[in-house]
Amino acid sequence: MKTIKERDREVIWHPYTPMKAWPEAIAIVKGEGAWLIDEDGDRYLDAISSWWVNLHGHSHPYIAQKVSEQVSTLEHCIFAGFTHEPAVRLAERLLEILPGEMRRIFYSDNGSTAVEVAIKMSLQYWKNKGIKKKKLVALQNAYHGDTFGAMAVSGRSVFTEAFADFLFDVVFIPFPAAANSSESVAALENILKQGDVAAFIVEPLVQGSAGMCMYTPDVLEQYFALCRKYNALIIADEVMTGFGRTGPLFASSQVNTTPDMICLSKGLTGGSMPLGVTACTLDIFDAFYDEDRTKMLYHGHSFTANPTICAAALASLDLLLEENCTESRNMIIDAHQKFAAAIRGHSALSDTRQTGTILAFELKTDTASYHTSIRDVMYRFFLSKKVIMRPLGGIIYILPPYCISNDELQYIYACIREFLETAVLNGATPCA
Ligand SMILES: Cc1ncc(COP(=O)(O)O)c(C=O)c1O
Repeated sequence: MKTIKERDREVIWHPYTPMKAWPEAIAIVKGEGAWLIDEDGDRYLDAISSWWVNLHGHSHPYIAQKVSEQVSTLEHCIFAGFTHEPAVRLAERLLEILPGEMRRIFYSDNGSTAVEVAIKMSLQYWKNKGIKKKKLVALQNAYHGDTFGAMAVSGRSVFTEAFADFLFDVVFIPFPAAANSSESVAALENILKQGDVAAFIVEPLVQGSAGMCMYTPDVLEQYFALCRKYNALIIADEVMTGFGRTGPLFASSQVNTTPDMICLSKGLTGGSMPLGVTACTLDIFDAFYDEDRTKMLYHGHSFTANPTICAAALASLDLLLEENCTESRNMIIDAHQKFAAAIRGHSALSDTRQTGTILAFELKTDTASYHTSIRDVMYRFFLSKKVIMRPLGGIIYILPPYCISNDELQYIYACIREFLETAVLNGATPCA
């Protein structure tokens, strides 16, 4: 009988995978806490929360129970003209914990669609008001998703290259690296001054796909305050940073000026099922609240606010808001800090950085390319140690589920240390 892995090779096209160079996928049959178990019984420690989604561990029994109860009561129903308790309750609970003056929740399917909705809301907001503001501003190297609008507001890179001719124009300002943050803030102000900016979209505090590039709440506050001053809308894309990754529940809670729209997904359901949310203020909602039907928001997906998925999100929120989840996050933050302090300055590293539960290491490589050859070397090395890491070019990072134990973290750190020693010995880091 063929294995899952063999059958997969005949029928599946995997995401973000060079199918010729990388034909084999590991077939997972079970998830348990921070571990994924394959069809041969091998166990892999999920150091990246399965693409940054998992919060409380795989196949969490509490989420499974709530999903099971919901699916046998009401699995799905149309969400135009109809509603249901899980969607309403989830909206009520999210509005209670989100930063700022969020008053309405618009559901969609994933992070990219949450961003699409925010882009459409911000462009139509101004159109509905009869004000000509059409420009969108984003950070260089941003990543906001893979649908066309989300790609357009993402930095132009190998991810978007094939579609470059089809992406609408967006103004990109430099990333606020410590050395040039004032340049970045000034660039934003110069564009805002022109008076035609509809919205500024940003990954608050950490640019994930760019390589876990981090900047300070002070810079974020300056961006947001400038947008307020010049009357441009603020979209905080918290798809990755939301639900405690940066320490507090949301990265944008760390600043005083608050966004007009917040995009959520990934950890929203504890990583158990796909769901997107675009939260917005009453001011945004009111711009669409009109008898004139051309002013309504023409957007919706077949599975909008699926009750089963909303039940998973409610269960995840229960777990997230328990005291011991905060303690777990603090344990991770503390352990990361200690390891970062111990490894900082290693001759194979050009940078070590941390924001909350996210810890990243930048290798000294001769290229910043996403496809640098060291990336595959690292990926394979960690897999051989049964740790799931997906380096971003020459950047290794840990973004663990909150259920991870200190021992499991120490194991990941030991593997990183071992890799760095091997890298130096083998000369795998040409600039080291
Ligand atoms: C900040 C950010 N926004 C949007 C997305 C897109 O989310 P999804 O993959 O669910 O479409 C991602 C995915 O990594 C992300 O990190």
